[in-house]
Amino acid sequence: MAKLKVGILISGRGSNMAALIGASQAADYPAEIACVVSNKADAPGLKIASDAGVATAVVSHRGHADRETFDRALSAELERRGVELVVLAGFMRIFSPWFPVHWANRVINIHPSLLPSFKGLNVQRQALDAGVRLSGCTVHLVIPDLDAGPIIAQAAVPVLADDTDDTLSARILRQEHRLYPLVVRWFAEGRIAIDDGRIEVRDVPPGATLLFSPEP
Ligand code: GAR
Repeated sequence: MAKLKVGILISGRGSNMAALIGASQAADYPAEIACVVSNKADAPGLKIASDAGVATAVVSHRGHADRETFDRALSAELERRGVELVVLAGFMRIFSPWFPVHWANRVINIHPSLLPSFKGLNVQRQALDAGVRLSGCTVHLVIPDLDAGPIIAQAAVPVLADDTDDTLSARILRQEHRLYPLVVRWFAEGRIAIDDGRIEVRDVPPGATLLFSPEP
């Protein structure tokens, strides 16, 4: 069966992108990475992708009259590569409403908190300041509102008394690298059903959409 063509958008390090590329290298993984596109030419993730033999492109957000013009240029690049699912992996640009509407139900994001808690930036600091005992990451469909949209799956981790932004980020990131390839697999297998703004993941074991990792 033809593999789902995935386009990954990054702005920086690209560790989630690397996890997805790694997963896609397994012969039985049902998705392939058609391209990695960055809005920043110096994103370290670009080299990781090209070293892995994945097509890369830079579409700079600079020099566009407004957000929508940039979004349309980005979208044209993805469409040129035949992308069917857009995967945001540390893509730190806010879209105009046009992009999520154009790619409705075909663009997903990973965010390092248990949404709807802690949106925006400095997310781990927000969690530590709030004193929560549990945090994690969320994969959700992208809608025009920031860090919102139907939740597909989450992974939870403990927040420990001596955590810093860095230790909590690292604990969450390890779960991001497990969760994102799983969700992309479900998309490619046609398991994601969207009904009235809620997501059902069909034919997976009970509890498959919540990972919990108590390891520090
Ligand atoms: C990840 O922790 C991701 O969840 C976060 O940026 C990091 C990117 O790391 N994304 C957001 O905060 C989006 N709101 P990576 O470049 O190594 O994948």
